[in-house]
Amino acid sequence: QNEQDHYVAEIKRLLKSKNATLVAHYYTDPEIQALAEETGGFISDSLEMARYGRDCDSDTLIVAGVKFMGETAKILSPEKTVLMPTLEATCSLDLGCPVEQFSAFCDQHPDHTVVVYANTSAAVKARADWVVTSSIALDVVEYLDSQGEKIIWGPDRHLGAYIAKQTGADMLMWQGECIVHDEFSAKALNDMKKLHPDAAVLVHPESPASVVDMADAVGSTTQLIKASQSLPNDKFIVATDKGIFYKMQQLAPQKTFYEAPTGGNGATCKSCAHCPWMAMNGLKAIYNALTDTTGHEIFVDDLLRERALKPLDRMLSFSA
Ligand code: 13P
Ligand code: SF4
Repeated sequence: QNEQDHYVAEIKRLLKSKNATLVAHYYTDPEIQALAEETGGFISDSLEMARYGRDCDSDTLIVAGVKFMGETAKILSPEKTVLMPTLEATCSLDLGCPVEQFSAFCDQHPDHTVVVYANTSAAVKARADWVVTSSIALDVVEYLDSQGEKIIWGPDRHLGAYIAKQTGADMLMWQGECIVHDEFSAKALNDMKKLHPDAAVLVHPESPASVVDMADAVGSTTQLIKASQSLPNDKFIVATDKGIFYKMQQLAPQKTFYEAPTGGNGATCKSCAHCPWMAMNGLKAIYNALTDTTGHEIFVDDLLRERALKPLDRMLSFSA
């Protein structure tokens, strides 16, 4: 506890002296989200983290999340120093979509509009026409479909399948997945629902279709938090990273939130509803980044940045 308090006090001092802001994702651990709140920083989903990072007037952003979030911040704010607690914090979607293969896939279908999820490298974004996050993916694809566009979608196959089903759009899918959401099990969820028949089911669309089909609300982290407040239920079963409980419980302390089950048939979970890369964002790592930026700073090549900025700007203007 003493060590924790020491890091919190030091981080607060360093954030002030460096005119730095802590921007955290809802999947980071509760003490990181609490620290972002206490220091006048920001916690949100990936879309609003990007917008906030661009618009805030700090000299330095410290992005507690995963690497694509830091890269997005740097692409949108090249004049800012963008630090991450660790550059090792990646994402299975980013890892599963190497730019060479993805570009070759796009080259085979030159008549398609390329829409990529924000959970990708700067190089993949640079190859895309649009970047989207889960909070606006449906609206963007609906719009493109209404314009008669055929779409290449990457990398999350579950989110892609959900959007294709909702919109009826013509979508060619890259076959990536989030290791956290992919583990939620419809069979185990069905068993759990029998125990809590009055609970509403909240599902992030990176989950398999069989789980999404059981949802009372489907959406991005921000959209799920809103649903947990607006739905009349007292109980919720939540199929997304457990980091989200910090905000859900804070906004609705009288409600009860249960983790949706992973595995099923006795299978043991690997990520167990918490992203191993999000979990790397500890207090000590934030302190280290603020003390010595070496190995913590995000750099994006200028040419790549210019190309990746276009589809990112398109996303931000679309959702403004
Ligand atoms: P959102 O916060 O945009 O819903 O993204 C979820 C996610 O996968 C972050 O890793
Ligand atoms: Fe990637 Fe899934 Fe972790 Fe989000 S929760 S960073 S999508 S692996």
